Amino acid sequence: MDIRKIVVTLLSIAFVSLLQAQDPEGCLASDCHGAYSLKEFVHPAMEDECASCHESIADNHPAGEGNEFELTAEQPEMCYDCHDENNTKKVLHSPVEDGECTSCHSPHSSDNEYMLLKAKARLCYDCHDSDISEGKFVHKPVKDQECIDCHSPHQSDQEYLLERSMPELCLDCHTDLEDVEDKESVHPPFEDECLACHKPHVSSVKNLLVSRVPVLCFDCHDPEEALPPLDMTVHGPLREKVDCSNCHSPHGTDFEPLLLKNKALLCMSCHNKEIKSKTGRVLASLANKVTKENNVHKPIREEGCTACHDVHGLERELLTDTFPAGNYKAGRVENYKLCFDCHKSGLLTKKETRTATGFRNGTENLHYLHVNREKGRSCINCHDVHGSGQPFLISEEVKFGHWNMPIVFTKTEQGGSCLAGCHEQKSYER
Ligand code: HEC
Ligand code: HEC
Ligand code: HEC
Ligand code: HEC
Ligand code: HEC
Ligand code: HEC
Ligand code: HEC
Ligand code: HEC
Ligand code: HEC
Ligand code: HEC
Ligand code: HEC
Ligand code: HEC
Ligand code: HEC
Repeated sequence: MDIRKIVVTLLSIAFVSLLQAQDPEGCLASDCHGAYSLKEFVHPAMEDECASCHESIADNHPAGEGNEFELTAEQPEMCYDCHDENNTKKVLHSPVEDGECTSCHSPHSSDNEYMLLKAKARLCYDCHDSDISEGKFVHKPVKDQECIDCHSPHQSDQEYLLERSMPELCLDCHTDLEDVEDKESVHPPFEDECLACHKPHVSSVKNLLVSRVPVLCFDCHDPEEALPPLDMTVHGPLREKVDCSNCHSPHGTDFEPLLLKNKALLCMSCHNKEIKSKTGRVLASLANKVTKENNVHKPIREEGCTACHDVHGLERELLTDTFPAGNYKAGRVENYKLCFDCHKSGLLTKKETRTATGFRNGTENLHYLHVNREKGRSCINCHDVHGSGQPFLISEEVKFGHWNMPIVFTKTEQGGSCLAGCHEQKSYER
């Protein structure tokens, strides 16, 4: 019981005794209008006698057959004699506008607080369809029938008689979302359009969503950009469950663009284990490749996985630029554009060099020797582009058909040596 209720109850009790004591005309005699004073909440106006609202127009009461009294004024003027006018704001509730105060309040007394004719939502359902609260998922305050947590029963400066402007109305209760606005990456509709995505009362979709993800997202985002046609290379989580929420927050996060974690950690939440793709291909786990103990390819540490992958992309392996599939490809710069977006192409094009690469015997460029030919060896024959336990990202194991070929690389002061399935141990010396 809140303080107000206690005070009103005490006042009511006081009034009732006072009323019955005063009651000069005897209106509240138990066999006449006594019932008014038996209810829990009695209008304090009753203290000023019945006559403050009822004017006697004939002297044969109670013997007459009605029409012995007239109201002292029409509603709502009668009420506004003693109460502040509640029809001054932009949006008026229709019964208030029409002055029908007694469609919700008893002028005398009631068992409900504020002398309401009915408690909670049942009051509203007298005029509104109760369908409003029927659905698979019902918002808690609606389920609890607390309509007036969000709607003013009388008037408001907000549309739909809302108690507060949006999104404050929602954030008043959902205080855990209050600090979202201060995050690095905030979804523009979060700032004032909660209702673009959520229904306020009920929904057939979890989280009171207007429609399920990703249909919801495509209300505003072009599906061609976010979700390429299904017959092309589509990233697993996009194709499988098409759940944008695997990676993006709909509200806001500290990682652009609305990512749940930073770009490397986000990807590693799934790629920290082997993944069997739709086609039966097994994607290697990156768990042991991009850890601290290992030699991690620098862009992963600095920019994250998106330095080379576009998860929304269409290219093979979702790569942002050209890189060949398989073990062999003609050793031309344009076939390895991805690598040469960051590395100088001299390591591939210069047959003799003292500067373009450390992979040389004297001035003979061994990158050129291995890669620069019609059936050139792709970088992945020697390097793991993500990370490796050996120096220079030299792979510990290379996939060669169905064979996982081991490579043992030893770094020396002026070069290195390599024992691989391809040849006997060979070494180079700058
Ligand atoms: C604050 C103003 C107010 C006071 C005080 C008041 N009434 Fe009323 N009364 C009304 C209004 C307004 C109606 C018309 C109700 C409606 O529109 O539904 C009414 C209706 C009635 C009716 C008609 C039947 C009913 O219950 O609706 C009776 C009987 C009645 N009042 C008796 C009394 C008596 C007896 C007292 C004093 C003990 C009293 N009233 C005090 C405002 C008042
Ligand atoms: C003669 C003066 C007077 C008139 C006329 C009057 N009231 Fe009141 N009313 C009071 C007083 C006094 C209170 C108690 C103080 C307060 O809460 O404002 C009160 C309180 C109320 C309350 C709040 C009760 C609560 O629990 O806080 C409601 C609702 C109410 N009145 C409705 C009406 C309506 C509807 C009318 C018109 C049909 C009306 N009043 C006419 C004097 C009046
Ligand atoms: C649609 C139903 C409805 C109508 C119509 C209505 N009220 Fe109310 N009124 C309520 C409800 C519900 C509350 C309780 C509000 C709360 O808890 O904040 C209330 C509270 C009140 C209160 C006490 C609290 C406050 O806001 O001061 C007064 C006085 C009051 N109404 C007067 C009126 C008057 C006068 C009219 C007619 C002009 C009127 N009401 C019409 C539903 C209604
Ligand atoms: C006496 C009948 C009546 C009662 C009781 C009533 N309403 Fe209404 N309400 C109306 C009418 C009539 C309209 C205007 C027609 C419409 O939009 O459906 C309306 C409109 C509304 C609107 C829409 C306002 C807008 O700007 O479109 C809301 C919200 C609302 N009511 C909420 C409530 C709530 C909450 C309650 C219970 C506290 C309630 N109503 C009780 C009759 C009532
Ligand atoms: C959590 C806040 C919240 C609660 C609780 C709530 N509403 Fe609403 N209601 C809203 C919002 C927001 C809108 C505006 C919807 C829109 O823009 O589509 C609305 C719109 C309405 C409308 C007008 C539009 C329509 O859908 O018909 C009515 C009538 C209404 N509410 C009645 C109620 C009733 C009755 C209850 C209690 C059962 C209730 N509301 C509980 C937030 C709420
Ligand atoms: C009066 C307090 C209140 C207001 C105002 C309110 N909510 Fe809620 N909301 C709740 C409660 C309580 C829950 C249930 C939380 C829980 O179970 O953890 C909830 C749950 C939710 C959920 C999760 C869905 C579910 O079924 O658990 C969403 C989404 C939501 N609210 C959105 C909104 C939006 C949008 C608004 C503004 C239109 C809003 N809320 C205004 C109290 C409120
Ligand atoms: C772009 C669409 C979108 C907008 C705008 C949006 N939401 Fe959400 N909201 C969602 C989705 C989608 C989920 C479900 C998230 C999930 O599955 O992880 C959700 C979940 C929620 C939840 C329940 C889970 C939680 O995080 O507590 C609440 C509460 C909520 N939203 C409130 C709000 C409020 C309040 C606003 C406005 C300030 C808002 N939302 C704006 C799409 C949106
Ligand atoms: C009501 C419209 C609306 C809906 C619905 C919507 N968005 Fe957005 N979204 C925007 C707007 C506006 C922007 C900012 C402009 C832009 O970058 O296109 C944006 C931007 C984004 C961004 C980029 C943020 C950045 O910092 O660049 C992501 C990611 C995003 N939305 C994801 C989603 C996801 C996931 C969903 C579904 C859960 C979704 N959006 C639903 C309107 C919407
Ligand atoms: C596997 C994780 C993942 C999934 C699932 C995912 N995204 Fe993204 N999304 C990202 C990443 C990472 C970026 C940032 C790309 C970058 O920075 O290169 C991004 C960027 C975006 C952008 C901003 C694009 C831009 O050009 O700025 C939008 C909008 C977006 N995503 C919407 C969606 C929608 C809608 C869905 C669901 C259909 C979705 N995303 C699913 C990871 C994901
Ligand atoms: C929610 C889990 C999940 C997250 C998060 C995730 N992935 Fe994936 N990823 C998968 C699945 C599942 C596949 C296998 C798809 C298939 O069936 O071919 C996959 C496949 C891939 C492929 C191979 C695509 C192909 O066509 O063979 C690459 C590259 C990839 N992901 C990169 C990333 C990057 C970069 C990120 C972070 C931005 C990321 N993934 C985040 C689950 C995830
Ligand atoms: C420097 C560029 C680069 C960066 C940064 C990068 N990748 Fe890759 N990734 C590649 C290349 C190139 C391939 C294709 C390798 C091949 O053809 O065998 C690939 C392939 C993949 C595959 C498919 C593996 C398989 O077994 O087929 C996955 C999954 C993947 N990357 C995830 C990630 C994740 C997660 C990150 C961040 C931790 C990341 N990548 C960072 C270049 C990069
Ligand atoms: C986004 C830029 C970027 C891309 C794309 C990129 N790299 Fe790198 N790579 C770097 C940076 C930065 C370093 C660190 C260079 C340094 O420290 O001098 C590096 C270092 C290396 C190293 C030497 C590692 C060591 O320990 O010294 C190898 C080998 C390498 N990259 C191979 C590749 C291959 C193969 C590709 C193409 C699949 C590629 N890189 C694509 C940025 C990139
Ligand atoms: C036959 C094995 C092999 C192949 C194929 C190969 N590399 Fe290397 N790469 C090495 C070795 C060994 C080193 C270490 C050189 C050293 O000792 O400094 C190296 C070093 C590098 C470095 C570090 C800087 C430098 O040149 O010393 C980069 C960058 C690099 N490789 C990129 C590539 C790219 C891009 C490709 C594919 C176009 C490729 N590598 C193909 C074996 C190979």
